[in-house]
Amino acid sequence: MSAPELAPDIETPRCLDPAAHTALRAEFPLLETCVYLNNNSTGAVPRAAERVLTDYWDTLRTWRDDVWQGWHVGLDRYADSVAALIGAPPGSVITDANLSTLLARVASCFDYRPPRDRVVTTDLEFPTVPFIFDAFRRYGARPVVVGSGGPDFDLDALDAGIDERTLLVCVPHASFTSGATIDLPRLVDRAHQVGALVVVDAFQTVGTVPLDVTALGVDVVLGGAHKWLCGVGTAFLYVRPELAATLEPAATGWQAGDRALTFRRSTGWAADAQRFAGGTPYPLTSLVSQVGLDLLAGVGVPAIRRHSLALTGRVLELAGAAGIKVVSPVEPHRRGGVVCLDVPDGEAVKRRLADRNMICSWRGWLRVGPHVYNTLDEVEVFMAALTEELRR
Ligand SMILES: Cc1ncc(COP(=O)(O)O)c(C=O)c1O
Repeated sequence: MSAPELAPDIETPRCLDPAAHTALRAEFPLLETCVYLNNNSTGAVPRAAERVLTDYWDTLRTWRDDVWQGWHVGLDRYADSVAALIGAPPGSVITDANLSTLLARVASCFDYRPPRDRVVTTDLEFPTVPFIFDAFRRYGARPVVVGSGGPDFDLDALDAGIDERTLLVCVPHASFTSGATIDLPRLVDRAHQVGALVVVDAFQTVGTVPLDVTALGVDVVLGGAHKWLCGVGTAFLYVRPELAATLEPAATGWQAGDRALTFRRSTGWAADAQRFAGGTPYPLTSLVSQVGLDLLAGVGVPAIRRHSLALTGRVLELAGAAGIKVVSPVEPHRRGGVVCLDVPDGEAVKRRLADRNMICSWRGWLRVGPHVYNTLDEVEVFMAALTEELRR
């Protein structure tokens, strides 16, 4: 059996202090309109985002050229806040519009030449991962998809699939369909043993499952704001600093150069993660996303995880009592922030629940993803409604 990835994962699940929790909930207006358990798809955005949007309009309304300076400070602050959340040093994270853009930029750093031309992935990836590496076949990349045979990762098959021909191992920290997490320490060990690099798509975990990229020694981590980070429309890329200094993306832009802000032709690469920048950045989404990130950082990911485990634990209990088939792993250290349920006619059930203001998502299985602002009561109300819908 594989080791738990991080100690907080196996702490006793428990909910947050009630008074602090009520105050936290009050920050999210969406919660007043429905039972919102859809956070693995799109997280709620705090009310202070409205002030950021108003300020942004004021900035546009009274435009001056030096606004850009302030926006760069805001962008850097957001990137460094993400870095702090995942245990990365300042300057090691860059943001862009979405994860796909950043992953393709990372992919463009490598020469895919035999004998080391393989990219090992799983069949539990978000579709953008195979799509991008298939496109890189024209540059010599040879994708190898390791089958899982079900909703959980097959770590033995992954170990066997990674060898001296492997350039990159690209896996999700948690599957977007089943919620199963992968044993990252084991994977990083195996990949590094044979000289391969590990790229982790952590979109489904960052903000709800602890992740310490430095302790893990992982090479590249990507994620985004609009799920568990309670933000909007921005994604991030972390590259291990010693590795970053050796990489040169072919898919690039002027902001990755060493003289970008002088508007002269650059002669080399910008320092730190800035070398993975593209063209003119889009500040609004980082400024809005900062609000949610600050709230989550105030609670702390270990406390968020304990709360999440208490709530997903209740989903599991109630599913068991109602005879609903659970797809996600049940052990705390192997499940992420979501519980996936195998229910007949799931998409229609999701819609009927939405008609009753109970919001979840469906991707082949019904996904129930409570976040730090949800309560046990909400989980119970939701599971009672689901049970009723299944008996109709
Ligand atoms: C695991 C995972 N990766 C990536 C994405 C999205 O990637 P992008 O930002 O390129 O749309 C999602 C969901 O939207 C996801 O669940």
